[in-house]
Amino acid sequence: MRQITVTEHLLVHQKASPMATGRFTRLLNELILAAKIISREVNKAGLVNVLGLTGDTNVQGEEVQKLDELANSILIYRMQRAGFLCAMASEENADLIEIPSKFAQGDYILLFDPLDGSSNIDVNVSIGTIFSIFRRTRENGPVYMEEVLQKGENQVAAGYFIYGSSTMMVYTTGSGVHGFTLDPSVGEFLLSHPNIKTPEQGKVYSVNESYWDYWDKPTQECVNAFKSSNNRRGKPYSLRYIGSLVSDFHRNLLSGGIFMYPKDNRDPKKTSGKLRLMCEANPLAYVVEQAGGAASDGQRRILEIDPHELHQRVPLFIGSKNDVEQAVSFYRDQD
Ligand code: AHG
Ligand code: MN
Ligand code: MN
Ligand code: MN
Repeated sequence: MRQITVTEHLLVHQKASPMATGRFTRLLNELILAAKIISREVNKAGLVNVLGLTGDTNVQGEEVQKLDELANSILIYRMQRAGFLCAMASEENADLIEIPSKFAQGDYILLFDPLDGSSNIDVNVSIGTIFSIFRRTRENGPVYMEEVLQKGENQVAAGYFIYGSSTMMVYTTGSGVHGFTLDPSVGEFLLSHPNIKTPEQGKVYSVNESYWDYWDKPTQECVNAFKSSNNRRGKPYSLRYIGSLVSDFHRNLLSGGIFMYPKDNRDPKKTSGKLRLMCEANPLAYVVEQAGGAASDGQRRILEIDPHELHQRVPLFIGSKNDVEQAVSFYRDQD
């Protein structure tokens, strides 16, 4: 296949997209540079002292891995200087991240999970970076939280990087979903998966079944349907669960299936499950819908949820359309 770079793909092959502008392309290329640096650090993690814990706890109440912190600082450093943002938000930071006035300001807002799947860093299992981009709703001046807390359907772009057997970028700007693979010999992401469409129905379900006793009845019935024959396929699905949302999502996007992270009652402070709306569910919901799939919190499309808090959590059912419809049918008659 001819070597098509992200820039060429966006400006030439997607010129109809409102995002096919030089400004957005330069923003995306700054993000790509940050991901290449993170990929380099991830790929030598075993050799230098970036494994293990920092000893800190983040706003999510999670133990911060050294690579969480490193990826976060790489993204913040690079993207503050990109010249196209007016604000940023990270899974690892409690509050909005300012763009210092000494740097050029822009009208895009970037939200990200700098390193997804942190529990897998030290055991060499695929991890990733998830990003979501909005345009600000005011002309200029200080950025208010309500400009950041927009519904997912307002995203102008979203996607993820996956640091696995190869480093890939998958993203959408509203004109389909496109995958690029990093060619380390030239340091470029080259088009490898044009126009990704996810199968209507899969053969795989992904969920952490160890929470069975903490799930409500509809969730137990929903998971039972996938592990038995009383489902639309008429036979059990295979269970595949890596523990990195990006990796489970990417596998299901390409080969079909559903990823579920239902709410559970393990922690009275986290009654909506573990995953974050703004930097995990929204971006992946935009990608999966553009690829013909679906994403729901059990009651509503993820992209329709009106956010009320930067780090709010949501239950997540995401993947092949038929599988998501089957999963949410168990919650239909719930109040
Ligand atoms: P993060 O590493 O960004 O905090 O996200 C971890 C998430 C997600 O990647 C994964 O699907 C999920 O945590 C796994 O959670 P459990 O260990 O509870 O299954
Ligand atoms: Mn985390
Ligand atoms: Mn994550
Ligand atoms: Mn993370």
